[in-house]
Amino acid sequence: MSQKSSLRLHVAAFSILLLLLVGAFVLIQLLPIGKNQTNPPVIAEPNWDSPQTRQTFMQACGDCHSNETVWPWYSKIAPMSWLITRDVNEGRQKLNVSEWGVRKNEADDVVKVVQNGTMPPWFYLPLHRQANLNPSQKQAFLNGLAATFGSENEPNSQKIESGDDDND
Ligand code: HEC
Repeated sequence: MSQKSSLRLHVAAFSILLLLLVGAFVLIQLLPIGKNQTNPPVIAEPNWDSPQTRQTFMQACGDCHSNETVWPWYSKIAPMSWLITRDVNEGRQKLNVSEWGVRKNEADDVVKVVQNGTMPPWFYLPLHRQANLNPSQKQAFLNGLAATFGSENEPNSQKIESGDDDND
């Protein structure tokens, strides 16, 4: 085979591959996965110790742990939509500050996961600069989380559902 025709064969194979990839990309958009990107109503929130703690929570955690998720354009596109929808659903299931007191929330580990850096998840940070906290922001946030949700290190910390009538 001449060099020229072998090159032509390569180009043809590459074009077919590209076409298949584009076709697959278009087809997966039609799958009924990752379509349920809703923000249910906000029912009740925790008794935040300060507006600052709430604000930091919303900017670093709220997309996956509240009903006020910001769904960016790329969250609508498969396969990102599948992963993002799954993360939001799982995150809300564990801890949802928009449905406070109406169902179980796993807030015990809140301080721990921020301290050791497992939350927010690493892959969330590059596209959400506002979730990157500098050391002093992080410390203030940790104090706020401990004051709001209690800390494992302080067994006598105030319980979440205790009737603290702080109507501000
Ligand atoms: C990109 C989505 C996302 C963001 C942002 C996020 N989380 Fe999570 N979070 C999850 C998911 C998914 C789970 C459940 C699976 C798991 O534990 O990894 C979870 C679980 C948790 C849990 C339950 C305990 C545990 O270890 O399972 C806590 C507490 C938590 N997150 C706190 C936070 C806090 C605090 C922030 C903000 C600093 C935050 N998360 C940001 C997705 C997220």
